[in-house]
Amino acid sequence: MSSIKVVGGEQLKGELKIQGSKNAALPIIAATVLNKGITTLKNCPKILDVLHMIKILEELGCKTKWQGNTLFVDSSVITSPSVSEESVRKMRSSILYLGALLGRCHEVTIAYPGGCSIGKRPIDYHLNAMTKMNVTEEFLNDGEIIHCYTNEIVGNDIFLEFPSVGATQNVILAAALSQGTTRIFNAAREPEVTELCSYLQEAGARISGKGTAYIQVEGVKELHDVTFTLMPDRIVAGTYMTAIAATYGDAVLTDFPVGKLDAVIRILRKAGCSIETYENNVRVYCQKKLQPIEFIKTQPYPGFPTDMQSQMMTVLCLADGKSTIAEEIFESRYQNVEELRKMGAEISLESSENKAIITGVGRLHGTVVKSHDLRGGAALVVAGLAAEGTTIVQGATSIERGYEDICRDLSALGANIRYCSENAS
Ligand code: EPZ
Repeated sequence: MSSIKVVGGEQLKGELKIQGSKNAALPIIAATVLNKGITTLKNCPKILDVLHMIKILEELGCKTKWQGNTLFVDSSVITSPSVSEESVRKMRSSILYLGALLGRCHEVTIAYPGGCSIGKRPIDYHLNAMTKMNVTEEFLNDGEIIHCYTNEIVGNDIFLEFPSVGATQNVILAAALSQGTTRIFNAAREPEVTELCSYLQEAGARISGKGTAYIQVEGVKELHDVTFTLMPDRIVAGTYMTAIAATYGDAVLTDFPVGKLDAVIRILRKAGCSIETYENNVRVYCQKKLQPIEFIKTQPYPGFPTDMQSQMMTVLCLADGKSTIAEEIFESRYQNVEELRKMGAEISLESSENKAIITGVGRLHGTVVKSHDLRGGAALVVAGLAAEGTTIVQGATSIERGYEDICRDLSALGANIRYCSENAS
């Protein structure tokens, strides 16, 4: 486990290109098993979660190769439709192989994904949908392992109680090569769901309604080879916007996912940032004291994204007044509060309503803090950039799950930041 050492006080300036999207890459890597051939994925981020999904592809019998940020997948042969317990435990997004392997092999054996630090993260919506699509589910080893099988996947109407990103993606993956038509009601509208649909359409799938709450998938016999370029990562982009804001910097982010972060841009402008877009570049600068935000609620897209909640909390710790955040998506996504308090932040929690009340302080001070999850860790790096003195963010491996190289990126904007050994202080 590595740590990250940040010496605060530098105003971020310059230009930085945004990496490819983790949450688009993961479902599309799973989707490659639907095609008995070659998929070429351009702008694919080299991050731990992607490397993990690739390891599972190879466990399944696929061949993969990197050329820079281009990933080649040969999924002509699937030797065994089973995903090891170890793989699922390490990364719950491997559950996306459920729909993909059912689509390809009409069978899958996969461990039941546990929760993580941000919540229990059940998969009932996923399993209920598969059952409605003519899939039989067996629970083995006291429910630790799920064995699903069918003689053919039959399209059906799927009503999601909540617009779950993963459940929407698994239904689409299972429906792509099915008999008949699947209609998803209350589908997730996140850009990463739209990106999965675009990839599958280019491979020959028949999908309509992508980006809306009603998606229709008409099953086809097979898919074909495709070369696809992944969209930039909107949460990485949003994270770096908060880093520029927190340091009162002035920088340009290129290859920016324009039009996919409007809720975050609206809030940052309300907090006092100037944000200008031209083509697919965005300039962020902040010359006046950061202002508090009376109330922010995390919501499904296009609302304020839960994956930006921790980073926004860091910014509001520096604002001139009181702000309130309500985390509506995950039940325990305030792990950072304790860490920010160590840096001098004033935050109180109303757990009954999953609310955090932040009273801005003039400066944070550097100290040793711990990353509990991917986005929380990135938010602590942002706090370190703005703090007086040096901050050590321990458990930085969690950040590498989604950020190709946060030290490389922020150093390019002038930050004094580097990886260091775990027990550095
Ligand atoms: C995706 O997770 C993202 N991960 C998450 O990003 C993101 O926070 C989340 O969507 C919400 O936007 C990837 O795309 C790989 P959900 P997912 O199913 O699909 C409940 C990051 O930092 N639920 O939309 O797991 C669930 O408990 C990660 O990149 C059920 O109750 O999220 C949660 O409260 C963190 N039953 C809510 O729905 C189910 O069967 C939203 O979960 C499924 C979900």
